[in-house]
Amino acid sequence: MRQVILGRTGLKVSVMGLGAGGASRIGQGTGRTEAESVAVVRRALDLGVNIIDTAEVYGTEAIVAKAIRESGRKDVVISTKKTTAVAGRPVTPGELADGLEGSLTRLGVERVDIYHLHGVSPDHYRYTRENLVPAMLKLKSQGKIGFLGITEAFESDRGHRTLAEAVKDDCWDVIMVGFNLLNQAARERVLPACREKAIGVLNMFAVRRALGDWACLEDVLADLGKRELVDGRAVKDTLDSLIREGGAASLQDAAYRFCRYEPGIHVVLSGTGNLGHLKENVDSLARPPLPAEAAARLRGLLVRVDDISGD
Ligand SMILES: NC(=O)c1ccc[n+]([C@@H]2O[C@H](COP(=O)([O-])OP(=O)(O)OC[C@H]3O[C@@H](n4cnc5c(N)ncnc54)[C@H](OP(=O)(O)O)[C@@H]3O)[C@@H](O)[C@H]2O)c1
Repeated sequence: MRQVILGRTGLKVSVMGLGAGGASRIGQGTGRTEAESVAVVRRALDLGVNIIDTAEVYGTEAIVAKAIRESGRKDVVISTKKTTAVAGRPVTPGELADGLEGSLTRLGVERVDIYHLHGVSPDHYRYTRENLVPAMLKLKSQGKIGFLGITEAFESDRGHRTLAEAVKDDCWDVIMVGFNLLNQAARERVLPACREKAIGVLNMFAVRRALGDWACLEDVLADLGKRELVDGRAVKDTLDSLIREGGAASLQDAAYRFCRYEPGIHVVLSGTGNLGHLKENVDSLARPPLPAEAAARLRGLLVRVDDISGD
């Protein structure tokens, strides 16, 4: 698996990261046993993945820790996240510090490599910067956090209001952004500043639901077509011929590779609880870029979409 430097963190990470959240939660969301989820993480490590994203809220931190412990690996970069809103109000610095202690305990480590604020809503961003960032910096100075990160609530903040603000600040070492074939708005609104400031970028929602299944994709395209945002038939035809002519192995292969080569993105997160999918996705991220003409066509066809997440 190819590795890249995650921006100014200097961390050397695999181009595919294992996402331990999403619908699958490494299998915990799809009826797998804990042992099966441990096996997914261990297989990912065996296949060369060395960055894993989890979160306080996913219920997978302890499973990830168990798998890393069993593997004996010392080079795994752990990214975890603090839930940032409780009953509609942002968490306090005290709750943040308590949350970090909980994550450290479940992960069995003294320091989290990347600690993100999870799904920060646009309305809470200013509070976050003024109140939670100082608390994070204090925890960093105590050696409990390696690098500061922030993720957006892409399900609702599909036009990147939070991250468009966040990248103007200098405190974030890493961000996690929603970007996929269907909503490419981050290309203009978030990624240029990340490149300029060497912010490490983790990509989420590469496949999610809409790009995991043709029927779901057709529904999404029909809706975009009704709103006159996209020529859905042209998108589907482009993807169909890409696959028919061997430019991509499958819809998911096209979706992951489309993100993998987007300038500014360092790591594409793949969430799965299925060992077969895991291997397919590792193979996808090792393949070259999609044929240039098809990729350019997909960029052009979807250029006006900025209000769907692909969920
Ligand atoms: N706001 C936030 O901070 C936030 C929000 C969402 C996600 N995240 C992070 O981003 C990560 C990635 O997001 P995601 O989990 O939604 O990942 P994703 O890779 O975009 O999509 C995962 C979905 O696609 C399916 N899938 C994966 N590979 C497949 C394949 N080869 N063929 C068919 N279906 C496939 C998975 O089901 P199977 O289990 O059946 O493979 C799962 O339902 C999460 O795990 C989490 O760590 C963060």
